Amino acid sequence: MIDVQDLRFSWVKKAPPVLSVDQFNVGKGEHVFVQGPSGSGKTTLLSLLGGVVPPTSGKIVINDIEVSSLTGAKRDQFRVDEIGFIFQMFNLIPYLSPVQNVLLPCRFSDKRRHNAGASRSIKREAERLLSQLGLGAELNRRSSGALSVGQQQRVAAARALIGSPGLIIADEPTSALDADARVSFLQLLFEECDRTDATVLFVSHDAALAGQFARTVNLKEINQAGVAQ
Ligand SMILES: Nc1ncnc2c1ncn2[C@@H]1O[C@H](COP(=O)(O)OP(=O)(O)OP(=O)(O)O)[C@@H](O)[C@H]1O
Ligand SMILES: [Mg+2]
Repeated sequence: MIDVQDLRFSWVKKAPPVLSVDQFNVGKGEHVFVQGPSGSGKTTLLSLLGGVVPPTSGKIVINDIEVSSLTGAKRDQFRVDEIGFIFQMFNLIPYLSPVQNVLLPCRFSDKRRHNAGASRSIKREAERLLSQLGLGAELNRRSSGALSVGQQQRVAAARALIGSPGLIIADEPTSALDADARVSFLQLLFEECDRTDATVLFVSHDAALAGQFARTVNLKEINQAGVAQ
């Protein structure tokens, strides 16, 4: 599902790379926990995999698509078609309802809309995902900005999952939650990912979560740039 070769990336032209990864592979359906100290390049790696920024050199293939050779607009379409992103701050649109937020990827991706609507109306699929992730239907009458952090996290996860993207990328999405809430959130997320055989790449500082994952990757070990500059 993820195949990275000879990846080099610098944020600033001609500066030494912050990321230098010769090889990184993740198989379809794998759940991988990505660890590493602050500044080691975790968010940068996720941005490269998601086509947010192009590599300085090297090759990134996701789901048989060579992301590293796509140009700007194609990278944006690739991202919404193939990847569900969950960000630390969730990036919900505060004045939209939970269901409206969850439906956003379907507005920008025919593929996601088609997948979401395959078995039912897409609105019912958004409601199903919110309920699967533990968000009560009564909360849908509120705007997303009026939800607690844990509730917003569930909306963000449902938005990542709608339309069954092959890859779910999560960057510190549980840091605001207590330990029990983190584990139960992960279990619900995994149940849904396993239903569609989605691959999960999950970044967190919280080493205690590693036990929930089949595989842990320490960025310090795969990143020869060694950063912390
Ligand atoms: N937009 C940017 N422009 C320039 N430099 C950046 C940018 N984003 C990150 N960096 C630099 O790239 C390096 C890696 O940062 P990154 O955000 O990937 O680390 P991280 O492992 O996600 O850290 P954290 O655990 O604190 O989130 C750091 O040296 C950081 O200062
Ligand atoms: Mg980060």
